[in-house]
This record gives sequence, structure tokens and C-alpha cells, in this order.
Amino acid sequence: MTSVIYLDWNATTPPLEEAIVAMAEVARVAWGNPASIHGSGRAARDVVETAREELARLVGGNPRDVIFTSGGTEANNLALLRAPALVTSALEHPSVTRVAEALETEGKPVRWLSVPETGRLEPEAVREALVGLPPASIVAVAAVNHETGVVQPVPDLVEVVRAAGARLHVDAVQAVGKLPAEHWAGADTFSVAAHKLRGPKGIGALVHRPERAPKPLLLGGSQERGRRPGTVDPVAAAGFRVAAEWAARSLTARGVLAERRDAFETELVRRGARVNGEGAARLGHVSNVSFPGVAGDELVAALDLLGVAVSSGSACSAGTTEPSKVITAMLGLERARGAVRISIGDATSATELDRALSAFDRALGGPRPANLR
Ligand SMILES: Cc1ncc(COP(=O)(O)O)c(C=O)c1O
Repeated sequence: MTSVIYLDWNATTPPLEEAIVAMAEVARVAWGNPASIHGSGRAARDVVETAREELARLVGGNPRDVIFTSGGTEANNLALLRAPALVTSALEHPSVTRVAEALETEGKPVRWLSVPETGRLEPEAVREALVGLPPASIVAVAAVNHETGVVQPVPDLVEVVRAAGARLHVDAVQAVGKLPAEHWAGADTFSVAAHKLRGPKGIGALVHRPERAPKPLLLGGSQERGRRPGTVDPVAAAGFRVAAEWAARSLTARGVLAERRDAFETELVRRGARVNGEGAARLGHVSNVSFPGVAGDELVAALDLLGVAVSSGSACSAGTTEPSKVITAMLGLERARGAVRISIGDATSATELDRALSAFDRALGGPRPANLR
């Protein structure tokens, strides 16, 4: 496994060594139930509460308004499943679109925003979609798209949604640690997942404005102020804290990633790739491209055999041959069939990208000079 070139950081990130160490330590010494009043419980509670404070510092907000969940999926469900009406788009992660479909089935009003080719939603379309919807309707958008890295104009959406008396839920799972917290500061609720920022899987959070606490989906104990019953894992919380601290420190160093991504993407374009999300503001660690006449899932499989890990579509639909719904919504089925996502991280070296490029050449059947495309 050591020689694998891992270019699938949007699916998940390698846990930080410091997070692994912190988790092992907590698993040994602070494994108690954070709700217990005795010493073991207090030790575990300290770990959980320190993690809550650290996360609140990173993402903005009061620690009291951070609800730990099992990850981004649960956080999105917690924010949206009780919405009286929903405005969203086909660009969103399935943990949002599937909730929208469930609400539709219940007979609640759900409006799907039209998707421009760039993948960047238009605030005016959101304003129009909200006309006639009941108060407290929710608009749900991701701050950063998981497949293309396209950045949505969240500050503009905040204004539009507020003016309409509605609420804004931001899926910030792909944005936290990559954009400053001001980007989603006006949202009513937003979601985070630790494993996208070099923390462990199985823990995330829904953060809300004080007056926008969600109703619980689970019935049980009074953990997380009753908003998310169930024992919080201090071990996962310890890893989340380290990841949040690290993310805050590394926020400014992301320019290097953009330079590497740009250079890599330029080479792919020279080989005939078309960039999905071109023309919109995109984060600098993701490249989503389609090679005309090449099936994305076959390219991913060929690269895997050559020791390069990338993805076609989102990780949740990996293992199936279903073309990406995101790219289909933006640019149609043909383009989606060819789509491949390359996502890099701070541990990705320029040498690895050079080797990945050679693997692309081999997988594509040799370098593809422009006149053969
Ligand atoms: C934008 C976005 N939202 C939500 C999720 C779900 O997060 P989790 O895997 O923690 O459930 C993901 C994961 O890929 C994502 O990319």
C-alpha cells in the first residue's frame, strides 16, 4: 500500500499521525462515558468538551451550539429532515438530495434549483425558488462541491435567504479547513466531518445559530443537550480536536496545493481533458476532468492497477457504474460518463503528481498529442 499515490482526498484524508497518537492515548486513559459523574466520566468529558471548543474556534460559533454527530451525513439529515419545505440542487451530496427526495415523498414542497454549466449556483435562482414557500423553509447548499471543488457564493445566498425569511443550511464538509469560517458565517446551520480534515471517520458535527437548534432525529438520552442522543466517543473526539487544530494552522498554506493542481490539470488538458467546473471559482486541490471517448470508471480502474487512487463520481456511488449526478446536472450524461476526480492534499508531493501523470499516459494508451484527440 505504501507506494500507492493517493489522489482521492475528497473521499477521505489520511489521518494525521498526531491524531492517531492522541486517539490511542485517550483510548487508554479517558475511555469513560462522558455522561458519567465519576472521575472516569469527567476525564472523557474533558476530552469531548475540549474538542468541541477547538472545533468551534475553527468553524466559528459557540461551543454550546456544536452538536457532535456520526459524520457529515447525519449532520445534514439532522438539519434538514424536519424542514417544512426545501430548496436545493442536484449538485448536492446524497445526504442532502436523498433527504429532499424523502421530503417530496411526504408531500412537502421541494424546489430544485437549475444548475448552470459552471456548477456555481445563482443567488437570483434561489430568490425565485423561495417565492411562495412557507416561513422557515430551508435552502441547502454545499459551500464547496465534493466532486468539482466549485465554491458556492454562500455570503450572497445568506442575504437572499434572510430577505425571504427562510433559513440557510450549508454543507461545509468539503470547505472546513480549506476556506476561512467567514465564508459560511451567516448560515443558520452547517455540517462538518472530521475525516475530510485528517481526523477520524465516524465523527462530525452540526453547528447552529443559538436560535436554530434542530429537533433531534433519534430518541434517547440527553447527550448533546438532547439534540443528538447517544454516547459521544471521546476517542474520536480527541482525533477531531487534533485535526481541527491542524486545519486552523494549515489554512494559509493551501496556495501550494493550488499551484500543484494547476500544473497537473494543465498537463491533463494538453492530453485532451476537459475541465468540469471551468469558469467557476474552484478550490485549489481538486480537478474534475473528462476525456472525450474514455469511460471515467474504466480510467479509474486502470489507474488503480497502476497504483494511483482517483475516483469517478462520489465515493458513495463508487463500486457502481452510475455516472456522476453532479456532472450530469452541470454538463450532461456524456461528460459525466467520462468524469474523473483528482483531489490532492498537503501530503501530496510534486514527484507523486509526476508519477501519476505517467500513469495517466499509460492508462490512456500513451500520451495523446493534441492532433489525435
Ligand atoms: C459535501 C459532502 N457532504 C456530506 C458528506 C458526508 O460526510 P460523511 O462521510 O462524514 O457522512 C460528504 C462525504 O463525502 C461530502 O463530501
